Amino acid sequence: MSAFSLPTDYPRIRRVQSFAELLATPFAAGVNALCWERTLPAGFPEVVAHLGPGEALVTLDEARLRALPVSAPARAAIKFMLADQQLLRDQDLDPVLNCIHGYPRDEEPGPVPTDVFSFHADSAPVPADTWLCTYHGPASEGLRNEEAHRRVDLPATRAQLLTAFGRADDADFRVFLQENCYDLHYAPAPDARPFSFGLGNLWRIATDYPTSPVPPCVHRAPATLPGDPPRLLLIS
Ligand SMILES: [Fe+2]
Repeated sequence: MSAFSLPTDYPRIRRVQSFAELLATPFAAGVNALCWERTLPAGFPEVVAHLGPGEALVTLDEARLRALPVSAPARAAIKFMLADQQLLRDQDLDPVLNCIHGYPRDEEPGPVPTDVFSFHADSAPVPADTWLCTYHGPASEGLRNEEAHRRVDLPATRAQLLTAFGRADDADFRVFLQENCYDLHYAPAPDARPFSFGLGNLWRIATDYPTSPVPPCVHRAPATLPGDPPRLLLIS
């Protein structure tokens, strides 16, 4: 596993030292991502090997994980993941643990890609955060807001979207952008420096909701290439 380091020049990320701090720290003063950095037990490759090949995305439940005939290190890895789920459930959240072999891509990518491989903000109608931890495989990636441009604001893309919409750039057009999630996707600036969320770190990131005091954290799922190990991802 390569060493993980948070970008040192990006004040929107704040490092915390505990779950309690991750939970209690408000998004304010521009901070839109909180990272509780942790070191994982060594048994994750064995867990993944026991899960075997699969298609697309498989949600793992506790019974299946506990029934795997694994060694003590893999048992520790399973315990680690289940403990995280419990921490979140205790907060009335609804975390899921996915084994991701690959995500579907947009079948007919239009002017704006809207799959999880595209940098995007999560959105919610009410105050809500996204919680994420990659335990195995390629880790989620973030993009500095200052290096991200909403695709709907790029003149050529907006012109294409207006053509697809077929009417004026008015309130109805903005509803059209919203309904298709076009307004949640971002293009990296040419000199952008995406950063890794790393393995084992539990993140709480800001979503796009109407009264949010901070801009949303822009992120994406890494491309899964043939031969890559599957990802184990906790998400809530
Ligand atoms: Fe997302």
